[in-house]
Amino acid sequence: MRKLIIANWKMHYGPVKAGGWVRAFRRERLPKDLDVSIAVPDVSLAAARASLGRATIPALAAQDAFWEAEGAFTGETSPTMLNEFGVVMCLVGHSERRKYLGETDEMVAKKAVALQRAGISPVICVGETDADKKRGATMKVIRVQVSSAISNLKPDGHAQPLFAYEPVWAIGSGKPCRPDDARDVHTAMREIFAKKWGPKWTHEIRILYGGSVDARNIAEYVSTTGIDGALVGGASLDPRGFGLLCRAALPA
Ligand code: PGA
Repeated sequence: MRKLIIANWKMHYGPVKAGGWVRAFRRERLPKDLDVSIAVPDVSLAAARASLGRATIPALAAQDAFWEAEGAFTGETSPTMLNEFGVVMCLVGHSERRKYLGETDEMVAKKAVALQRAGISPVICVGETDADKKRGATMKVIRVQVSSAISNLKPDGHAQPLFAYEPVWAIGSGKPCRPDDARDVHTAMREIFAKKWGPKWTHEIRILYGGSVDARNIAEYVSTTGIDGALVGGASLDPRGFGLLCRAALPA
């Protein structure tokens, strides 16, 4: 399976800076066997699309979407609106949204279904907190989050779901999860896919690792069996640094 790296800009870069980032990044040489995507704030989708033109690399992604197509939902953006920018993937359930905006497993599940229906691959983010880890509840928490998220989801079709395992304690902390530990969690997630969708799907769904990934450690993750790439926050903010990280992921 091809490896994928998604830049998660979070709440950085309005339209002006987003356009500049994309133009700078397009000058970076990228490994041809690597898939690369950028998850940008909604207000910057148009600028990012304009700077990308028809280019499909990096693929355009969003950071969230609502579960209805339109209606009285002030402040929200629907998957069909994201379609207008050529968005191919969209994060759902990032731990920052779960923490600051009260996003629940039920909301995450609804968003994932709506995205898939609109032809956009949901990138479902799951991960345990430091407190969960300390009480030995990592696998339990992950099982609940994953099972709930996929309860009404199909594994196939043109908008296949993806996952990002992002331990909350590793995000932005400079303390990444060890690749072997991430792999063990990914294995447990794959068992849930197999149970729900059948054994064929064990290795067909991409699971990325996220949390303090940078140009120095990316290769360790990407070279670990069962880790299909990375979701990168802080280390994606500089376009040249992110280009370097992509090259470090799959050294020539
Ligand atoms: P980080 O963030 O790379 O800055 O740790 C990752 C994420 O939250 O997606």
